[in-house]
Parts: sequence; structure tokens; C-alpha cells
Amino acid sequence: MRRGAIVRMVAIGVVVGVAVSLVAVLIPWLPSSASEEMDRITFVYWFATVICIAIFALVAAVIVYSVRTFRVQPEDDSDGPPIHGHTGLEVVWTVIPAVLVVAIGVVSAVVLAQNGDAGTNPLNVKVVAQQFAWRFAYPDEGDLTTGELVLPVGRSVRLELESVDVIHSFWVPAMGQKQDLVPGTVQRLVITPNRLGTFPLLCTELCGLGHSTMRARVRVVEQAEYEQWLDEQRGGRAGGGGDGASLFAAQGCGGCHALAKAGTDAQVGPALETARLQEAADGAGQPLAAYVEESIVDPDAVVAAGYQPGVMPRDYAERMSQAQIDALVSYLTGPEG
Ligand code: CUA
Repeated sequence: MRRGAIVRMVAIGVVVGVAVSLVAVLIPWLPSSASEEMDRITFVYWFATVICIAIFALVAAVIVYSVRTFRVQPEDDSDGPPIHGHTGLEVVWTVIPAVLVVAIGVVSAVVLAQNGDAGTNPLNVKVVAQQFAWRFAYPDEGDLTTGELVLPVGRSVRLELESVDVIHSFWVPAMGQKQDLVPGTVQRLVITPNRLGTFPLLCTELCGLGHSTMRARVRVVEQAEYEQWLDEQRGGRAGGGGDGASLFAAQGCGGCHALAKAGTDAQVGPALETARLQEAADGAGQPLAAYVEESIVDPDAVVAAGYQPGVMPRDYAERMSQAQIDALVSYLTGPEG
């Protein structure tokens, strides 16, 4: 091949390579990492992306050069030269891609194995998904259940994920790991937070009316703050059935219902402001507290106008003690602020 041709192809390849590199680097495709697993995922992403940019630049250079140089000339009706394969080229374009694909496969397999390893001293957390809320239980801390995932920084967390109704999917974008929750199975996932802060957790499987509101927060704190938080949670529970406000959060009520004093505005189910509840109780011909309790333990007994039966889970009576249900009822029927 002529030297001029090679120089021109290299020039095209460099221009294309720089252009796509800028697209890769200047646009923040991935959220900034907050876990060791996300760090590794980011590494695999760049490993594969750099290889792709090089291959893309090479192919683009050959195509652009060939289209320009070998374009048919006006009046030229002759056939092209009779070429029959090129063993050297075929070996090159088979061996190089094979090596690259195997390399990506090996790097991915190593990262996958590392990202599934919780080490010897993980923190265990149970994640329960239901339409349309997340609950977190800390089995090593008694029955502690919360609506917010609080984790100490720098320690691996082994999550056991379960769904009580349909398929949901657990995803904290800043922590990379993503896992579907399939009813009837227990899935496992490891995350090792390495940055302090608050990160959104989303459901990323279309699971029904309230899918887009099925979110929670992950709060990563220092070990000392984590222990203090645990103490506070334990203290809250020691005072009887637990207070209504934290039950409202821990049971995920805000995933579907708006309630100003709890700071929730979801609209899957009816709003729970006291005035509206009173109106509904009057409509059902029941005292307020009895109506609210019935609506929690037997949600389809009276369904508010404009809403569907069968949407709200029917297992709250099993999930909460009577003292907890009483606390939740008095929270919902209590003062507005
Ligand atoms: Cu749960 Cu979408």
C-alpha cells in the first residue's frame, strides 16, 4: 500500500478517535461512584469503552478512506479487480477481536466475583419490596425496621432482597449494583459504601400504578453516627408500640399516600389528611378511629371513590402488633402538624 494512503487513514482514525473520546469523557454517563462495587463497574466500563473507541476509529478510518478513494468514476463501467480473500488480513481480524473479547470477558468475570463477595464481616440487611415502598430490616438489631436505608461507611453490606407481591428491582445508581426481586425467591446483593452522603434508591422494574414513586433514600454515615442512629431507633421502639410517624415511614405508607405532616405526596391511594378521613368515615357511617383501623387491616372493606380495590396490601395485621396499629391510627387521626 502507498505511504500516502496509510498516512491519510491514520489521520482520519485520529480525528474520529478524538471526537468519540470527547463524547465519552465530556458527557457524565455514569453517576459519580459511592461504593467499591461502583468503582469496579466504572473501571470495566472504561476498559471496554477504550477498546471500542480504538476499534471504531480503525473501522471508520478504513471506511471513510475507501469510500473517498475507490468511488466509482463517471463513465467507468469496468469491473473491479478479481480479488479472492487475503489470509493474512483474515487472521488479523479474527485474532485481535478474539483477544479483546476474551480480555473484556475475563475482566468482567473478575469484577463480578469481587462485587459478589461480602467479605468476612458484612452488615446484614433485609430489603422487602412491595407495591410501592421499600422496607429495610436489620436482623442483627432485633426487629428494627425502617423506611430509610442507613449504612456505615466502609463496611460491606449483604442485602437479602424479597418481594411480597410482584417483580421489583433494587437500584442505587451511585452504588452500581442492581437486582430484580422476584416473589418467592430471596436474592442477594453486596454493596460497600465508600462515600458519605444521601443517595436515591429506585425501583427500576415497572411494577404498577405507583412504580415511579417507589423510591427510598440510602444514607451513608460514619460508624459513630450509625451507632447513634441505631440507639435512637431502639429508644423509639422501647417506648411502647413505636410512634406513629416512624411506623408510617417504616411501613412505607408514604409510597402510595399523601400526608402533609409526613412530607409525602404520592397519589396511588387516597390522601390521608384527617379532614378527608373524617369525611370518608362519616360516609361509611363509622367512628373515625374504627374506620381508619379497618382501612389499614382490611383495606378493601370500604374503597374510596375513584380508587381500585386490591391495590393496597392486605397483610398489615400480620406485619404490625395491635399496639403498633393503634399508634398508627392515633397518628393518622391526630393533629395535622
Ligand atoms: Cu416496584 Cu417499580
